[in-house]
Amino acid sequence: MSNQTFTMIKPDAVKNGYSGAILDRIIKAGFHISAMKLTRLTPEKAGEFYAIHKERPFYQELVSFMSSGPIIAAILIKENAVEEFRSLIGATDPAKAAEGTIRKLYASSVGENAIHGSDSDTNAKFESNFFFTDKERF
Ligand code: RTP
Ligand code: MG
Repeated sequence: MSNQTFTMIKPDAVKNGYSGAILDRIIKAGFHISAMKLTRLTPEKAGEFYAIHKERPFYQELVSFMSSGPIIAAILIKENAVEEFRSLIGATDPAKAAEGTIRKLYASSVGENAIHGSDSDTNAKFESNFFFTDKERF
C-alpha cells in the first residue's frame, strides 16, 4: 500500500471558481500537497493521460473536456492515499456521490465531475510522473 495519489481539479471546477474550496477540503482531510501546478492539457496530452479509456464511448468527449481549460494537477500524500482520496471525492456520477463528498458538492454531471483521483497505486505513480519530475516534489 502506497501513501501517494494524484489529483486534477478539472476544467469545470477551475472555471466555476471552486479551486480554493476544493483545496481547502483536501488539506483539511489531512493530505499533504507534495507538488502542485496550474496547467492546461493539449488534446494530445489529455488523450495520452486517459489512454486507458480509448475504447469507451465517452473517450472523445472526455479528451475534449479535459483540454478545454486550465486544470490544477497535484500529488497528494497520506496513509492509504488512493482509497482515502476516492472516498473524499465520491462516486464518478455526482448524482450517486455521497453527501459531503467533493463531487456531490461541486460536480455537475458524470462527464464534468470537478475532480480526478487515481484508482490504484500503479496509476498514482504513472499519473504523478506524467506531470511532475522528482525535483518538483516537496
Ligand atoms: P477519474 O478517473 O476522472 O478520477 O474518474 P473515475 O475514476 O471516477 O471514473 P473513470 O471510469 O475513470 O472515468 C474517467 C472520467 O471519464 C468521464 N466519464 N464520462 N459520459 C460518461 O458516461 C462518462 N463516464 C466517465 C468522467 O469525467 C470520469 O471522471
Ligand atoms: Mg478513473
